[in-house]
Formats: sequence, structure tokens, C-alpha cells
Amino acid sequence: MELTDVSDDLTEILISEEQIRSRIAELARAIEADYAGTDVLLVGVLKGAVMVMADLARELKIPVTMDWMAVSSYGSGTQSSGVVRILKDLDTDLSGRTVLIVEDIIDSGLTLSWLLSNLNSRGPASVEICTLLRKPEAARVDIDVKYVGFEIPNRFVVGYGLDYDEKYRNLRGVGILSPGVYT
Ligand code: XMP
Ligand code: MG
Repeated sequence: MELTDVSDDLTEILISEEQIRSRIAELARAIEADYAGTDVLLVGVLKGAVMVMADLARELKIPVTMDWMAVSSYGSGTQSSGVVRILKDLDTDLSGRTVLIVEDIIDSGLTLSWLLSNLNSRGPASVEICTLLRKPEAARVDIDVKYVGFEIPNRFVVGYGLDYDEKYRNLRGVGILSPGVYT
């Protein structure tokens, strides 16, 4: 679905399909250079990271394996609480593995900082993070994010995997959701 197909629900088109494609290609070149000769495990966080994972993994010119986790931050609506529950764990044993977490968005960073310590406790060789989007709030938590696609304003965005109430995930780009949709 195109952003223009739901233009009534958006206040702004933030990132086009083409901008995402070209930025993911840049990230892939950096990742290939950093991980050449390494057996990388990409860990995608369901469901938001599905699109980033699919496009990033196919863009990479090095072999990788992929696994998935589903977590839920307790708390409702559009705010994360930092209390995290595992809904689906990895199938992969992380001991000695080189892990790259693939995320759609970092907002408060609470979910990710929990995930980082959880994965780090499993004895991996390393755990790094690649996120397509990052909001300014994220600067307040001390996590080192190795690859960031776009720094975006502190607004609720949808598309390219990101949802509101499970909708808009299949948009090809990212847009700012009109507050009228959720108030
Ligand atoms: P924290 O705050 O823990 O939250 O970094 C990360 C998770 O919150 C969701 N999130 C969003 N989802 N549009 C969305 O569709 C947004 O603007 C947004 N901000 C945060 C998302 O699930 C993310 O993984
Ligand atoms: Mg997410």
C-alpha cells in the first residue's frame, strides 16, 4: 500500500519507499564491511521489524542467519513502560554467536535496553543494534546503537512494519499518524 492510499490518516509523509531503499543499501554496505568473514545472526523483533529484516537481509552480500523474538512492553496505547515480557523466544542458542538486533524503531529505548541485557546474558560473542528509525527520547538512555537509518521527530509514525492498532504495517513508506486517528 502506498502512503497516498491512506493520506487522510496521515499528517505528513516522512520517509518514502525510495528513501528507505537507498538508506538500507547504505546500512548494508556498512554491515558487510564490519562483519566480513563473520557468521552473523540477525535477530528481528516481531512484528515491527519484519519489513526492515526482509529488505536488509536481502540487500546484504554476506551470508547471514535470521531468528525472531516477540516481546511486549506492558502498558497501553502509544507509550512503552520498560516492563518487558517475552512472547516468543529465539530458537537459536546464542553462546559464542555474533548477534545483530534488527529493530524498526527506538523510542524511549526501554524495550531495547531490556532486550540487550537479556541477550547479553546468554553468552554471545557480541550484540549490536541496527534500527531503521530513532526518536530523540532515545538519547536519554545509554545504549550504543551501531546502525541508525533515520533520526525522526518525536511523533507517532506508522508504515513499513510500524502499526497503530495492527494497521498500516503494509505501507511502503513511513508517515506521521494523524492524532485524529487515535484520539
Ligand atoms: P521504546 O519506547 O521501548 O519502544 O523504545 C519501542 C517500541 O514502541 C513502539 N513504538 C512505536 N510504534 N510508531 C509505532 O508504530 C511509533 O512512532 C512508535 N514509537 C514506539 C514500537 O513497537 C517499538 O518497538
Ligand atoms: Mg518494535
